[in-house]
Amino acid sequence: MEGLSIGKGHGSAIMLGVMLGVMLGVMLGVMLGVMLGGHARRHARRHARRSAKLYGPALTAYWGKMTAKPGPAKPASKPAPAALRESFPGRRPTPPIGSARSCSGPPAQSLDAPATQPSRDLSAAFDSAELLDIAKRHLLGNYRPAPVVFVRGEGSTLEDKHGSRYLDFAAGVAVDALGHAHPRMVRRIAEQAAKLMHVSNYFYNEENVLLAGELCERTGFDRAFFCNSGAEANEALFKLARRHFYAKGEPNRYRFIAFNQSFHGRTMATVSLTGNPSYHEGFGPKLEGITHLPYGDLEAVKASMGPDVAGIFVETVQGEGGVLPAPPGFLPGLRKLCDDHGALLLIDEVQTGMGRTGKLLGSDHESVRADAISLAKGLGGGFPIGAALVREHLANALPPGTHGSTFGGNPLASAVAREVLRALDEDQLIEGAARKGAFLGGLLDKLGSTHPDLVEGARGVGLLRGIILKKGVDARDALARARERGLLLTIAGGQVLRFTPPLIVTESEIEEAVRRLDDTLKSLRIDMLADAHGKPPSTSG
Ligand SMILES: Cc1ncc(COP(=O)(O)O)c(C=O)c1O
Repeated sequence: MEGLSIGKGHGSAIMLGVMLGVMLGVMLGVMLGVMLGGHARRHARRHARRSAKLYGPALTAYWGKMTAKPGPAKPASKPAPAALRESFPGRRPTPPIGSARSCSGPPAQSLDAPATQPSRDLSAAFDSAELLDIAKRHLLGNYRPAPVVFVRGEGSTLEDKHGSRYLDFAAGVAVDALGHAHPRMVRRIAEQAAKLMHVSNYFYNEENVLLAGELCERTGFDRAFFCNSGAEANEALFKLARRHFYAKGEPNRYRFIAFNQSFHGRTMATVSLTGNPSYHEGFGPKLEGITHLPYGDLEAVKASMGPDVAGIFVETVQGEGGVLPAPPGFLPGLRKLCDDHGALLLIDEVQTGMGRTGKLLGSDHESVRADAISLAKGLGGGFPIGAALVREHLANALPPGTHGSTFGGNPLASAVAREVLRALDEDQLIEGAARKGAFLGGLLDKLGSTHPDLVEGARGVGLLRGIILKKGVDARDALARARERGLLLTIAGGQVLRFTPPLIVTESEIEEAVRRLDDTLKSLRIDMLADAHGKPPSTSG
């Protein structure tokens, strides 16, 4: 080992070399730090100038706020009305991810930590008016959102930027099946995000394969295609049906029957299927080969059937159309007509699926078995996912390369949908939707009879319900008044106030919602009477 021994002289030289090396390294590091710091400051100034130019006055202070030291919390620009602040119990603690984390990596921040950091979080830097100002100038005007900015939710309640709390009986338009920030959803999303989010459809992923199996097992369908929304799911069914007959040597069988006041989505195929002319206006020629008929009119369908009909697209309850349930016998009648004419029954379960109506599928109420269905909304409980489920005879309708979706079936969305399925079972949410839906329906019937001058009646199935306002009652005004009373609803079919609360809603929340609607209708009557007598309206609305 002689070659490895080091003499005294050699040792000192090495020590000297090491010290010089360390000093040189420190000096270089300091210089580099100073240079990078200068660059960051210049970048910050450039960014501030660019922000000011881009966003205008509301964001001029953006960079300043983002880089300011944390100060005392800024009071909300408009204090929450006491009634809205005090109506709901305190926030439920969210369990930390803790030991459930299933892969190594940097420790995740405890979910108990405050949702916002005072100075670094962009959302904390703006008040409600500033956000509305930015929205007005930078969001496309294709929606008509209420002037409320929501910042968090819990269960069936939402909280806005002012700290006001609302009973959320819109639930993202029948999407938030488990309400907001459900601990099991929060935990599952965090776990899966830490494990695997996206891999593309060039490979299988475990969560997606399992979701396909679980959905097929529960619904009785055989194959699943995954996408990200309801429109995409219906678009897939549209293409699948045409491709199926093309492959069978029947390329002229491409016509679809759909129904008046139906809603199937906003892509060109699904908007063409949608039976509401206001959604078509200005979008050029609709897709060819779609016949719209009156919903519920079996005779009209029978008369329209022929060898060119590929399929019938139908909802079990026309949600957007005004919460119109299919008349009894209509869906079984369509099934028979499809069987008689070799066409496909394609049921859009985007709004009615996943327990919303008190059964897993809307079509389960009359035990109608479609050839294929579309799902979305409640499937991900608020996480975007859509699906087309088909029977085995359609398994090869879309061979490799004919259809796809980059994000469709990603592990994160699939894991969340599996969690929703588990919650439906473990918390008996489907049975609950039937029971609580009947309770809500009873209260709405009673409410209708106490306001016969304003309300035509109530209808719906499970937790998909509507109260029909009389002609001449301004539904938008009613909606805004309900919101001011801390109740969020949506309008469907022009005159219907639609209730689609989360499936986890409680009976006491339902009672409270109906009380608020009662108060809304009373205020509406007072102002309508005042209007009729030429008096100025009250300010309470
Ligand atoms: C019955 C039905 N189909 C399709 C859609 C479209 O779904 P998405 O908005 O996710 O594209 C909706 C949306 O409201 C719907 O209610």
